[in-house]
Amino acid sequence: MNSSTSNLQSLVSKRVLLGVTGGIAAYKAAELVRRLIDVGAEVRVVMTAAAQEFITPLTMQAVSAKPVHTSLLDTDAEAGMGHIELARWADVILVAPATANFLSQLAMGQAHDLLTTLCLASIAPLAVAPAMNQAMWGNVATQQNVAKLRERGVHIFGPDAGQQACGDIGMGRMLDVLDLRLALAGLFEVGVLAGKKVLITAGPTREAIDPVRYLTNQSSGKMGYAIAQAAVDAGATVVLVSGPVALVAPQAARTLAVISAEDMRTAVMAELTGTDLFIAAAAVADYRPISVSESKLKKDATKTLSLALIENPDIVAEVAAQPVRPYTVGFAAETENLLGYAQSKLERKGLDAIVANDVSSELGGFNSDQNAAVLLYSDGASQSFEMQSKSKLARALIIDLASKINSTCRNQ
Ligand code: C5P
Repeated sequence: MNSSTSNLQSLVSKRVLLGVTGGIAAYKAAELVRRLIDVGAEVRVVMTAAAQEFITPLTMQAVSAKPVHTSLLDTDAEAGMGHIELARWADVILVAPATANFLSQLAMGQAHDLLTTLCLASIAPLAVAPAMNQAMWGNVATQQNVAKLRERGVHIFGPDAGQQACGDIGMGRMLDVLDLRLALAGLFEVGVLAGKKVLITAGPTREAIDPVRYLTNQSSGKMGYAIAQAAVDAGATVVLVSGPVALVAPQAARTLAVISAEDMRTAVMAELTGTDLFIAAAAVADYRPISVSESKLKKDATKTLSLALIENPDIVAEVAAQPVRPYTVGFAAETENLLGYAQSKLERKGLDAIVANDVSSELGGFNSDQNAAVLLYSDGASQSFEMQSKSKLARALIIDLASKINSTCRNQ
């Protein structure tokens, strides 16, 4: 049994109230019901009026083998299982798909139909799987609604990136049914990193040349941020040391914003005590100007400018060399001889593991939302991860690393 199958045990006998709202991904809700029942969950379905335009209550009744709830003010339904009873019945409410409109209603605390009323009336954990056009997902109104919901403790599953029903490509696809099931199971289990402190570096560093210029690189920080979110979801206490990026940090992580490699090194060293797992996902500049000009450099007649550079501290190697140190994981972003270079980096820096990723491919790499990787361990073990969204890859990496760390601890 692999780790993802064993995680599903936590859904046995769990009462899942599945809310379905009106988006094209509603057709996947029938499959979701089946897959939840497969692993022993009890499922009851609530559909909004718009959802019934995409998939019929009869279909949902057939797959769940239970009456489907569609109306707040239906005397027959209230005589069976009324809305308050239904709210109390649920161990968890999952709304999949959750449209932009539904997220907005939820953020406002509306109770104008059965599903919104149940969400308001239930004390069960609430999870939503957003699914919408990429522009609707990116709209600041939706983002603000999602941020508000997250702040209130609503679990946001996805969305995923990829091809959309409308032909667009981008963020907004509902998470795959099996990933949703896994995420839901995660709510009921003690996270694989519960009780652990995880320190993560992410993003690029900026090395000042003068007050207005700097050296930097292409790193977007997306992989490191996705790893921070995955570690939070796995129950860890997360400290994220981040170079300058245009990303929103996971709410539950403690984020330390830094600029240069030296700042990053100082922040990491100050946080090492008590750290169980250190993941160096940052693209740290290897060199910095020897001296930073106090005033803006001027052009001169020679038409050339030489910059003298000095090597930056290698943060991950320094962590790995500490007498008492966390399990230390580096990244190797390579454009050729991926595994060879990654293996030698693993050895040279004295790491426990290294995530090798090919940044020359068109799909994965620095600014992409997707990535593929190979995880190499110092004991010779390795694990390959196919091209997938960075959030999925981050979850898979965390699960693999956690099982390695947990088994290493048990064997000591
Ligand atoms: O040697 P290279 O830069 O390719 O190694 C990449 C790995 O080393 C990454 O994990 C990166 O975060 C880490 N690194 C570091 N400090 C540096 C350079 C790289 O921690 N100065």
